Amino acid sequence: MRNDVKDLSLSGIGAAKVEWAAKNMPVIYSIADRFGKEKPLDGVRISACLHVTAETANLMITLKRGGADPVLCASNPLSTQDDVAANLVREHNIPVFAIKGEDNKTYYDHLAAALDHEPQITMDDGADLVTGLLNERTELIEGIIGSTEETTTGVIRLKSMEKEGVLKFPVIAVNDSRTKHFFDNRYGTGQSTIDGILRSTNILLAGLNVVICGYGWCGRGLANAASGLNSHVIVVEVDPIRALEAVMDGYRVMPISQAAEIGDVFVTVTGNKSVIRKEHFTKMKNNAIIANSGHFNVELDLTSLEEITVKKRKMRGLVVEYELENGRRIDLLADGRLINLSAAEGHPAMVMDMSFANQALAAEFLVKNKGKLEHKVHVLPEEMDQEIARLKLKTMGIEIEDLTSEQAEYLSGWREGT
Ligand code: NAI
Repeated sequence: MRNDVKDLSLSGIGAAKVEWAAKNMPVIYSIADRFGKEKPLDGVRISACLHVTAETANLMITLKRGGADPVLCASNPLSTQDDVAANLVREHNIPVFAIKGEDNKTYYDHLAAALDHEPQITMDDGADLVTGLLNERTELIEGIIGSTEETTTGVIRLKSMEKEGVLKFPVIAVNDSRTKHFFDNRYGTGQSTIDGILRSTNILLAGLNVVICGYGWCGRGLANAASGLNSHVIVVEVDPIRALEAVMDGYRVMPISQAAEIGDVFVTVTGNKSVIRKEHFTKMKNNAIIANSGHFNVELDLTSLEEITVKKRKMRGLVVEYELENGRRIDLLADGRLINLSAAEGHPAMVMDMSFANQALAAEFLVKNKGKLEHKVHVLPEEMDQEIARLKLKTMGIEIEDLTSEQAEYLSGWREGT
């Protein structure tokens, strides 16, 4: 079996991690049990390009139980857990192409290896496989049933492909299910981004000015988590409605040109590029810390940071100190790549349970609706979203209220008033 992982002897450590994550993934395992009986993905070749973590391993195992023939490559050069990758290969016979810290060429070679599997379904976190199919491997398009997409940035890219008329198969925007972005982007990114900052720096966040660029689903979760640790949160936004929301949630809001002067820690999570640039780096306080939790490593304009740097030195594992021409120093975390996946372990299993339940059901949905869906970006039906939430609540031992028939009638009518 073709694969490329760091060291297969790490499989035992990986097994424990995968099992630990599984404890908090009851929803995906209820799907896995059904998949095991019904085999809805029988013989379907799936190429997944996702962060190679213990949670993703549990998704791969679920797909395989459903009869699929999956392979996995990394969706980020720094996010791979090498022991988990080894375990998937050795114990589960799932080919993996991913090594933590791989260079750009290896990253793209691994994407190509995943496409060599001649997938019928691709699963992306950032639309890299779909981009590869449309730009280079066009001969494979004919065999594609559809694709699924995990993250906001990927969905934006896919919608742009749809608009330009170049999308050649249906895509399910898993990110847009409410049981995904309400929880994964908000609570998952919020907590794990803080986790990544703390693991890489061991700073005390209480009392610091933490500047958060982007008050979307991820940004608001991060603001909530940072203020929960008694940081003073400052939000930078370009959308007036989201900026207003941040103000009314109790945060200071200002442009990055002002925030640059007072921030102690800066985190970008916008999905946009060059959010913090040269003119902002030069204004920062001595020893300011900068990090990114958005999908690509383009949110911090590192090219311009290099231009004004006279000296660099590694301070700790993933911390590099940049000494600037003006004599001040700035500490960059994890090369500006997703801090939560580079320096910590990504989102906790409890939240990935719902995200990956959406992924598994999306694959089944694509197979069931083969040939029937338009070549567009689709969202899973509302009932499936509701069902995932219902299952999650059930596994948490929480019951909710049911509408009485009288209430259901009242809510669907217009005649009854005061
Ligand atoms: P979102 O679309 O809900 O929010 C992004 C926000 O950034 C918007 O409110 C937008 O107005 C704002 N923004 C855009 N340009 C800006 C600028 N120059 N300055 C300040 N604000 C700006 O997106 P979401 O779901 O919060 O995702 C954000 C990024 O995080 C995406 O790249 C997404 O793929 C990624 N992501 C990362 C995760 C992780 O594990 N670290 C998990 C989930 C998403």
